[in-house]
Amino acid sequence: MDKLISLCKRRGFIYQGSEIYGGLNGTWDYGPLGVELKRNIQQAWWKSMVGSHANIVGLDAAILMHPTVWKASGHVDNFSDPMVDCKACKQRFRADKIDPSAIANKKCPNCEGELTDPRQFNLMFKTHMGPVADADDSAVYLRPETAQGIFVNFKNVVDTTRQSVPFGIAQVGKAFRNEITTKNFIFRTAEFEQMEMQYFVKPGTDLAELEAWKTKRLNYYHQNLGILPENLRFHQHGKDELAHYAVDAYDIEYHYPFGWEELEGLHDRSDFDLRQHQEFSGKKLHYQDPITNEKYLPYVIETSAGLTRSVLITLMDAYEEQTLTMNEDGTIGDHRVVMHFHPNIAPIMAGIFPLMKKEGLDTIAQELTQELRDVFNVEYDASGAIGRRYRRMDEIGTPYCITVDHQTKEDNTVTLRFRDSMEQVRISKNDLVHHILKFNREYQRKP
Ligand code: GAP
Repeated sequence: MDKLISLCKRRGFIYQGSEIYGGLNGTWDYGPLGVELKRNIQQAWWKSMVGSHANIVGLDAAILMHPTVWKASGHVDNFSDPMVDCKACKQRFRADKIDPSAIANKKCPNCEGELTDPRQFNLMFKTHMGPVADADDSAVYLRPETAQGIFVNFKNVVDTTRQSVPFGIAQVGKAFRNEITTKNFIFRTAEFEQMEMQYFVKPGTDLAELEAWKTKRLNYYHQNLGILPENLRFHQHGKDELAHYAVDAYDIEYHYPFGWEELEGLHDRSDFDLRQHQEFSGKKLHYQDPITNEKYLPYVIETSAGLTRSVLITLMDAYEEQTLTMNEDGTIGDHRVVMHFHPNIAPIMAGIFPLMKKEGLDTIAQELTQELRDVFNVEYDASGAIGRRYRRMDEIGTPYCITVDHQTKEDNTVTLRFRDSMEQVRISKNDLVHHILKFNREYQRKP
């Protein structure tokens, strides 16, 4: 993990938030490569939901919502973690995440000072809208999940599209939680992004739909993001783990360096949210079947993935330190750090190098870079030995390196080197786009 965090900083994936002021806990900033990776993951998700399903449509709802939304959704009353404070060192802990004996003996795990009794701590950030900051009726919340924007727009979407149940609404956006413990890099942060899809189904079909979405979502991580299957598993929530809105729930868990933890939540939310919003808003949210005229409140199967958490798992899953040759005395010779990103999500698709900066090779390579820029993110690099240029691209997970050499001037071909196998092929310069798209389609991550 430390090596990954250092690589992320050094190569411009992720920086500590407000770093020059000493940082702000639980916040991280995405640098030039990180922002490309995050955007590519978001696009892969969007394509797998909205692009691949005629019955899933998109939405982009406001972060700030009417305060009654959060009363209706149950978040004001139920969205809390138990916390204890140390009276001596003032550190705050989640009561359910520290050794139960520390709670029983009221002994701080940090300094052995006295702990307070556990208290419920609401995770929503509260702020004020309008000029009077302390007026009670001006209080609004930063949304702790994007889902509620979808529920309150359910009727709008039904009335303005030709969708009929079962259908889904997908959304990507920021969510905020005043987490008591933010650690493990970008795993749990105060500000994060979610990619949520609420699938509205006829009551009674929800269990089968949940099963179908479990399969689809697990496959997405293997096939679209290239995550190794052995690092993913399901965990079904026990009765005491279920969120206040869920009747059944599964987490897709990832094998992080700090253990198996949640990556995505799949929930059967029954008609809980629509029923609550119907009651609190006084607006009818029933769906009427256009064929049978039957009226009902749909049940909701939710797939709730963390975008920033997906960035973390793609970084961790991709990272490998490889020994390429051994010295005669048994010590490590040539070695590299390589990120095995799926080409769908790699921040840069190809590095383009002139073998040398003279004899016109650099001009050809620069022109090629400009041509390919229309289709892919590409980077021109002419500095240092070719081997070092390969290593720099391997370390940021660039799937292909293209070298312009003397033969290019004779027959218009270049070498294309594959990141994972380090094999090279000679290809006509004019066919590069076609070949790269084909290689991407055929890409298989090797364990
Ligand atoms: N709408 C349902 C919902 O929000 P959740 O299990 O609380 O369910 C869904 O969150 C996903 O959002 C998690 O699986 C995780 O990927 C991401 N997530 C939740 N809290 C997070 C945090 N503090 N930092 C980063 N990601 C978080």
